[in-house]
Amino acid sequence: MSNAQDSSASANKPAWGENVVVDFEDGIAWVTLNRPTRRNAINPGIVWEMNAIMDALEEDDRCKVMVVTGAGESFSAGMDLKEYFRATDKVPPIQRERLFRANAAWQWRRMMHYPKPTISMVNGWCFGGAFQFLVGSDLAIASEDAVFGLSEINWGIIPAGIVTKAVLEVMSFRDAMYYIMTGETFTGKQAAEFKLVNKAVPAAQLKDATRELAKTLMAKNPFVLRQAKTACRFTRDLTWDQAAEYLMAKSDQTELRDPENGRNVGMSQFLDKKSFRPGLEAYDRG
Ligand code: ACO
Repeated sequence: MSNAQDSSASANKPAWGENVVVDFEDGIAWVTLNRPTRRNAINPGIVWEMNAIMDALEEDDRCKVMVVTGAGESFSAGMDLKEYFRATDKVPPIQRERLFRANAAWQWRRMMHYPKPTISMVNGWCFGGAFQFLVGSDLAIASEDAVFGLSEINWGIIPAGIVTKAVLEVMSFRDAMYYIMTGETFTGKQAAEFKLVNKAVPAAQLKDATRELAKTLMAKNPFVLRQAKTACRFTRDLTWDQAAEYLMAKSDQTELRDPENGRNVGMSQFLDKKSFRPGLEAYDRG
């Protein structure tokens, strides 16, 4: 099912569907950048549509996990050099800054802290700005033959936005330096070795592997999953003592606010009912 829905302020103009499509399937929202003839380069249309989609999916029960991917042979060829850069060179700075802020919002600020789990499914070309939402998403699976590149150096710019920072977050310093400085491409298989993605699978298995991962996530307590991924993002930059304090508080908050009372239900299923083994599976959520 394709969902060109209308949740915009204007009743006549759908908030998305022109540059991005959303399909719902058993709890998964497949969010597909849909400019295959432009290799899904990020134009302003994608920026506004992705923000609208993320607003809507936060509250849409059909979305338990959000998967971002690209139509055709490309995940995303990065920022659209014509529509995102050249066309905005001469617009008033305030408008350009608004666009850039909106892009940062969907690609990493919101993506990193999205209340629902997010997966990037890298089906093909992945360049430049696409690394922002690739790293911004919680998890990533690539086709083994996908092609990645920090191509900025090849046409005279540095990996800006937040690309350099994002790459350093997940890749080793040496690998990041090498690919930023050479602009050489690497495959999905290498991306998994570099830990830029969680794993790479043959192209024919990519969608099934992504679906399986999404199902694994959907079996967990969604509130605790959100707390866990938030804690993971924030703990990274804290000292050990700060992390211990933060995690204790986060843990208490989780127990107090969890609508499923997961901690006690899970403990009881293991200790009293002996109905599951938490080391091997999620507790029965009913
Ligand atoms: N911005 C604007 N248009 C693009 C982009 C892009 N990032 N990527 C592809 N396109 C357009 C091409 O201009 C071409 O348009 P045309 O049909 O009007 O000529 C069309 O998409 C198809 O592209 P081709 O180059 O013909 O496709 P091909 O499959 O041969 O190559 C590839 C794909 C390797 C992705 C190539 O298009 C490319 O190098 N794109 C640029 C990738 C890049 O460097 N991205 C980083 C941008 S910088 C940043 O993100 C910060």
